[in-house]
Amino acid sequence: MVTPGVLLKASLDASKEFFRPPAEEGTSAAPYVRPVMVPIRSIGPSHGERIATHLLALNEHDRYLRFGYAANDEQIRRYVDGLNFERDEIFGIYNRKLQLIAMAHLALSIDPELKSCAEFGVSVLAQARGRGYGSRLFDRAVMHARNDGVDMMFIHALSENTAMLNIARKAGATIERDGSESEAYLKLPPADLDSRMTEMVEEQVAQTDYRLKVQAKQFWEILAIVQEVRRGVRDSRDRMPR
Ligand SMILES: CC(C)(COP(=O)(O)OP(=O)(O)OC[C@H]1O[C@@H](n2cnc3c(N)ncnc32)[C@H](O)[C@@H]1OP(=O)(O)O)[C@@H](O)C(=O)NCCC(=O)NCCS
Repeated sequence: MVTPGVLLKASLDASKEFFRPPAEEGTSAAPYVRPVMVPIRSIGPSHGERIATHLLALNEHDRYLRFGYAANDEQIRRYVDGLNFERDEIFGIYNRKLQLIAMAHLALSIDPELKSCAEFGVSVLAQARGRGYGSRLFDRAVMHARNDGVDMMFIHALSENTAMLNIARKAGATIERDGSESEAYLKLPPADLDSRMTEMVEEQVAQTDYRLKVQAKQFWEILAIVQEVRRGVRDSRDRMPR
């Protein structure tokens, strides 16, 4: 549950971030410190290109783990073009360069007889793994599914996919292994006031975090231009005969 204290700390952390220039993912010498709360936002069709860029960055093995086959670039583009943002829910985690570093797709059943079922799929960029993003996206999807009236969530994973099966097992899913493939299913409790409030607050924090990241990115870009102009003026002054 997100308490007001956690929310306040998350907002303070977000505004502190504003003053730090963006660094390349995974290049910082400082050890990675897990934040109190990971802002996860629900994303819409205007982010289609970012979703495609994220998925196209996965290597062949990761694509195989994510989709159950080694999807080529064209198949990934077709998957992104076919996303139904009205029926399904897509969640994302952005870094300060507004790169989508982790995303999840909660696909609601298209069969009216199985309306209360949903399938979960997730991917985290290689350089951002092991920070709990996969688990956090899973928790977020569970909360949204509950609030949407879903009572059973399915995860299709290859049996070799220890990380994904760990996430599902820790959440209490039943896992049925069938050779190289495994099906995990998790029975969800019905929505309650807590799940509804928590999702609302988390979405609000994530939207604010995203807006701050957009502003910070614009700020650093303008600063880079100003510095470039200053450097040009200084260089031409140095070249002038004295
Ligand atoms: C599966 C995946 C989403 C996990 O993302 P992640 O952000 O690294 O996951 P987390 O950091 O939340 O770790 C989840 C659990 O798996 C464990 N784990 C992570 N990487 C692992 C690995 N390579 N081998 C074994 N266990 C691993 C973690 O220790 C953690 O368990 P814990 O909570 O008991 O410590 C990521 O590896 C990925 O994108 N893989 C390619 C696509 C894919 O497999 N998608 C899933 C099928 S839909």
